[in-house]
Amino acid sequence: MGDQATPSAPELAAMAINDGPCLKHPFSDRAPVRSIVCRPDGGAALAGNRVRAGGWVKTGREQGKGSFAFLEVNDGSCPANLQVIVDAGVADLSTLVQTGTCVLVEGLLKMPPEGTKQKIELRVDKVLHVGPTDPASYPIPKTKLSLEFLRDHIHLRPRTNTISAVARIRNALAFATHSFFQEHGFLYVHTPIITTSDCEGAGEMFQATTLISEAEKLDKELILNPPPTEADIEAAKCTVGEKSSVVAQLKAAKATKEDISASVSDLKKAKENLSRVEERAKLKPGIPKKDGKIDYGQDFFGRQAFLTVSGQLQVETYACAVSSVYTFGPTFRAEHSHTSRHLAEFWMVEPEIAFADLQDDMNCAEAYVKYMCQWLLNKCFDDMELMAKLYDKGCIDRLRMVSSTPFERITYTEAVQLLEEAVRGGKEFEKNVEWGIDLASEHERYLTEDIFKKPVIVYNYPKGIKAFYMRLNDDSKTVAAMDILVPKVGELIGGSQREERYEVIQQRIAEMGLPLEPYEWYLDLRRYGTVKHCGFGLGFERMILFATGIDNIRDVIPFPRYPGRADL
Ligand code: 4AD
Ligand code: MG
Repeated sequence: MGDQATPSAPELAAMAINDGPCLKHPFSDRAPVRSIVCRPDGGAALAGNRVRAGGWVKTGREQGKGSFAFLEVNDGSCPANLQVIVDAGVADLSTLVQTGTCVLVEGLLKMPPEGTKQKIELRVDKVLHVGPTDPASYPIPKTKLSLEFLRDHIHLRPRTNTISAVARIRNALAFATHSFFQEHGFLYVHTPIITTSDCEGAGEMFQATTLISEAEKLDKELILNPPPTEADIEAAKCTVGEKSSVVAQLKAAKATKEDISASVSDLKKAKENLSRVEERAKLKPGIPKKDGKIDYGQDFFGRQAFLTVSGQLQVETYACAVSSVYTFGPTFRAEHSHTSRHLAEFWMVEPEIAFADLQDDMNCAEAYVKYMCQWLLNKCFDDMELMAKLYDKGCIDRLRMVSSTPFERITYTEAVQLLEEAVRGGKEFEKNVEWGIDLASEHERYLTEDIFKKPVIVYNYPKGIKAFYMRLNDDSKTVAAMDILVPKVGELIGGSQREERYEVIQQRIAEMGLPLEPYEWYLDLRRYGTVKHCGFGLGFERMILFATGIDNIRDVIPFPRYPGRADL
């Protein structure tokens, strides 16, 4: 079986025939709703089985003059609900029917009457748990709610059909990612979240510092215990003077050993006090400065540190030792982009391959994207059907098309020519098209959505608009970079062959006005045993946007972070 927690429909069917019904969660005393209703027969074959099921009531209604209630219960294991019927004698129906109520119930699975949508329903005879919900204050009623509205209730939004489906799709894509790279012999490497180098050189890094909180602590402390004054220091010095003359006098008078050592100990204490007072007198409120600049030598790491924008530079150290690697983790960018494609915290998948060039890079990226599309068709079809119904009619066809059609590959120069032709033909873009520009989202989307109607790999970009680590082509004008553009999203992947020639990369760093010192370790990879290598980064949330057709990236990450917003 592929994915144990979520068997596919054919796997469930096979289980039903071969193993008998598997109606208990391995680590929880109830049957996941998925194991009941997601069989090809909709669960019909399970009629007659006794089960315990739990979940949250999506909708509930009392019927037969309050003699029983129908509940649609969902536990997030699949998009479908379990229909539950509870008689009035078993529980207080008015509580159970409220949307959002949590129930754990037990009873017999039965075939519903002919003509009903469900293939199976649960006739409850025992209610084991009720987590009630006050409908007057519950923020997620059963009416259709906008995704924007749900962003204001981030902690409750996983209860909705859309957000739980997105969570399952996201989970499946993460599993597919590991599966793809593991199957192809890549090693998963954990790159650091806190870093001291700016991979993209774009100056969009969040700083990791304790200087501010330390300064605040000190400010508070100095208000409670004001620092010693000059007079305090003088007084402490006087005490030291007095104590040392007492010692001298006692020694001159040949006093007893006990008296002398008592006075020496007094003197020691006075000296300790003086140095404490002098130390405290040095404490200054605010952030420590040196030569008019912030003194990062006093920061937590003894130097300036940031949250990573990409694990690439670090993962390259492993590629240049163990050959095929990938990292998959959160990355952070302090860009003030209020777009539906940007987050301040997003997840990136970054493979890095030694002994491989730009062609290999494109082949790997294309195979990986195709693999993920096919994976969703195999494993998440029911969730994809929900996406097709609610957000994007074409999303399933798009997955099929992408998983089976070769991506278009064009150079940047060709892309610009195509865009210029479009402008001549009357197409209007906000940003002017000419060779050398960084393609804007409108250009990228026009190429993939209007011209080719499929994913497009654009490669060999002008060096001026790309990062320092990309390999310079023989024309000295372009670098061996590639971006994969996809419908709905624009840029999904950015990658390149890396500059492996020591002299060239050193010059590129200098050309871009970057300091050499922080990159010395990176240059070492070229100084010692350099190798041709390449890699790319896939924006994981952008992949989910592309797959689902959902419009805003804030709705495909559980806890979105963007300018002005970081809830929970
Ligand atoms: O093109 P980018 O900046 O490439 C890199 O960071 C390279 N170091 C990757 C590598 O070669 N290992 O980012 C890669 C991808 C983009 O194509 C985009 O999909 C996504 O990351 N991305 C973002 N996703 C959400 N919010 C943002 N602010 C993003 N910035 C980039
Ligand atoms: Mg990019």
